Amino acid sequence: MRVLGIESSCDETAVAVYDGAQGLLSHRLHSQIALHRAYGGVVPELASRDHVRRLLPLVREALAEGHSDRDSIDAVAYTAGPGLIGALLVGAGFAAGLSLSWGKPALPIHHLEGHLLAPLLEPNPPAFPFLALLVSGGHTQLVDVAGLGAYRILGETLDDAAGEAFDKTAKLLGLPYPGGAALAALAEESRSERFVFPRPMLDRPGLDFSFSGLKTAALVALRGRGQDPAMRADIARGFQEAVVETLAEKCRRALVETGHRRLVIAGGVGANQRLRERLAAVVESLGAQLYFPRTEFCTDNGAMIALAGYLRLAAGMRGDLKIHASANWELEEIGV
Ligand code: KG4
Ligand code: ZN
Repeated sequence: MRVLGIESSCDETAVAVYDGAQGLLSHRLHSQIALHRAYGGVVPELASRDHVRRLLPLVREALAEGHSDRDSIDAVAYTAGPGLIGALLVGAGFAAGLSLSWGKPALPIHHLEGHLLAPLLEPNPPAFPFLALLVSGGHTQLVDVAGLGAYRILGETLDDAAGEAFDKTAKLLGLPYPGGAALAALAEESRSERFVFPRPMLDRPGLDFSFSGLKTAALVALRGRGQDPAMRADIARGFQEAVVETLAEKCRRALVETGHRRLVIAGGVGANQRLRERLAAVVESLGAQLYFPRTEFCTDNGAMIALAGYLRLAAGMRGDLKIHASANWELEEIGV
């Protein structure tokens, strides 16, 4: 069985073809970062309009590269939420149109399920069940994954997501949007551990997170000293260490509490090398295994949506004739 996957929930238009026997056949992506950079963040209306422009050419390219056509595709999977509603509607409407004209089912996919399953695109994929740390621009969650569609949230952020904290602090440091990767690169330049920021919520039990105080701590440290490039790098390092340490400690606690032997990192912040190093040390100390997708499949992509669509099709999902798009959609609600 072969599935065309479409992702358009935020500022990436992405399309991929996944085949059950052969794996990923093709994936194409257009990033809108340059379009939104002047505004310091994603402008929803511009995002929707750009998805309209990019989607059809990307679908053509992904089909051609994957040696696929309407006859060989068995279903069209698309991100139905959560995300920007206008952006989601572009992908959902397009998928519904293709589905009607091709006579193939359209499968609505939860964006975070896509992220959770992305490590299954790699060689040596994790088996179910596993613990997942989902760290993106909009979400920070620890998820107990019993199987496809069987997700239980063990802890989540009470305020800013980890990626959002990276982006906001990067902005304070004068880095261009989206600043997560740029902040991480700046932190690498630092040779000093003079800034030790608070580790939010580590002093109490539970698996929730809170990151909004960290950007304030960075702002206070920066006051009056922002012109000094070495100082900015040291602040970036202090900030990154605080986020990474907090995420790593909560993962350790969650692994101990649940008894899971496998930890999956997913979402854009999963591209952070320091986080991967720290989590590798945590799983090693517990005799567990760490899994993560390649960097380009940590951030938004079409491959994870095509894969989730394939797994759902194989599990019997048939879709319907509705156009599903929902800005807010809880992961625990989706079922199989
Ligand atoms: O998963 P994603 O592509 O989009 C959402 O669904 O939100 O995640 C994007 C987030 C952004 O906040 C970005 O700054 C962050 O991931 N990010 C990073 C790194 N690369 C991307 N954060 C820290 N270190 C990185 N290397
Ligand atoms: Zn995402």
